[in-house]
Amino acid sequence: MGTPRLFQIFLVLGSAFMVLLIIIYWDDVGTSHSYGHTPFSPGPKTPHTPPQPQRPQQRHQRHQTSRTPSFLSDIDAFVNQFLELGTGEPTDPVPVDATNQSERAEERYVPRREWKIHLTPVAAELQQRQEQRRRLLQEMCAEDSMWFPGKNTSFDDIANKALDHLIVDDRHGIIYCYVPKVACTHWKQVMIILSESMLQDGVPYTNPQAVPRNMAHNSSSHLTFNKFWHRYGKFSHHLMKVKLKKYTKFLFVRDPFVRLISAFRNKFLQTNDNFYNRFAQFMLRRYGNQPTPPASASEAFAAGIYPTFSQFVQYLLDPQTEKTDPFNEHWRQAYRLCHPCQIQYDFVGHLETLDEDAEHLLRQLKVDNIVEFPASPRNLSASHSVADWFSSVPLDARRRLYKLYEPDFRLFGYERPDAILEE
Ligand SMILES: *[C@@H]1O[C@H](CO)[C@@H](O)[C@H](O)[C@H]1NC(C)=O
Ligand SMILES: *[C@@H]1O[C@H](CO)[C@@H](O)[C@H](O)[C@H]1NC(C)=O
Ligand SMILES: *[C@@H]1O[C@H](CO)[C@@H](O)[C@H](O)[C@H]1NC(C)=O
Ligand SMILES: *[C@@H]1O[C@H](CO)[C@@H](O)[C@H](O)[C@H]1NC(C)=O
Repeated sequence: MGTPRLFQIFLVLGSAFMVLLIIIYWDDVGTSHSYGHTPFSPGPKTPHTPPQPQRPQQRHQRHQTSRTPSFLSDIDAFVNQFLELGTGEPTDPVPVDATNQSERAEERYVPRREWKIHLTPVAAELQQRQEQRRRLLQEMCAEDSMWFPGKNTSFDDIANKALDHLIVDDRHGIIYCYVPKVACTHWKQVMIILSESMLQDGVPYTNPQAVPRNMAHNSSSHLTFNKFWHRYGKFSHHLMKVKLKKYTKFLFVRDPFVRLISAFRNKFLQTNDNFYNRFAQFMLRRYGNQPTPPASASEAFAAGIYPTFSQFVQYLLDPQTEKTDPFNEHWRQAYRLCHPCQIQYDFVGHLETLDEDAEHLLRQLKVDNIVEFPASPRNLSASHSVADWFSSVPLDARRRLYKLYEPDFRLFGYERPDAILEE
């Protein structure tokens, strides 16, 4: 008689407890737009920090999100005091880890090389630059007068396929949205180093530039959001949101028109059978008055036949172009690749300031001791000016092209190129 009643009470209490747990968990996961960086890495740096209770730390970071140096960099600075006599070369002594690394099951080898020791905080100027870029994004996303397709879509309603540019590194809690033609090979190589997803002679690569380019671009080298559905089924969106909330999210963009010129030069002014067959032949037939263009890229090049920049612009403006497939990623707008109004990016890099931004970002991510951004070739910009490239494009087409890419200009703070848009 008493036992079933007792059991019922236990059942009710148990259920209440479960509901409470769910509520607490949900609150932690919810829709709050904080972007605290939670170190996930068992790498050489994080062990210096004592394990922190998750929630107080999150709250702590919420109050100081605008300040890049957190308690981690204070500890770095402290550790660095003991290394001041070092030269910063790879042969320098590695700081001794306080914790017993071998206790970590996932730890396969320790320690890593440490060659970059920063004693000075990130320059205030660079932090301000990031604050401005983040604020601009927020303002533009809130600005009703600026509208573009997908702007009002909620994250849950973004098609799985459209999440394929978000690369996740669970080891360090980093999400990178890659925009082709914006140093993305180098950043993909860096992500492979960080996530240790590729081995060379049985150990993960440590030098980004040693990662073969084709492997950096092979989608099987990266964990991307669109793969979550297959792995985690109905939990995938929930998991993505947890990661979006906790991880540090970054992307790199560049002037949209310069990016288009770069894509054109790279894909159509060099022998590239894939792009020739998929796009150039079509452009030549439709806009170039070439009913039977050469069968291969090399034949076309030998005959001096390739689409002009103006024909490429015509292709982009043609309503027919996106009837079957969206723009190829090399010229698809960054806002369509990276969903900046659904994903609150912590770091917005510009190719125009790549070296400074890369160094700042790696320090903000606390991985500047494990990976160095590959030195960029000095000759990044188009050899001719934007105006030269557009001189063959009719004014009306230029203006329509600007409309097509205007969200990228405005979201990421690029000036409207008045010189080529006004008569
Ligand atoms: C680290 O942990 C391993 C396994 O738990 C143990 O055998 C070893 O003695 C520990 N080392 C130190 C320095 O505590
Ligand atoms: C998008 O959302 C904003 C605010 O929620 C609203 O004012 C605007 O009309 C919406 N735009 C469209 C095209 O639905
Ligand atoms: C990508 O990598 C996988 C696994 O290494 C390989 O099977 C596949 O052929 C590669 N794809 C391309 C396009 O190279
Ligand atoms: C950049 O490239 C152009 C040709 O593409 C070349 O003429 C120029 O000398 C290069 N500049 C530098 C600094 O290498």
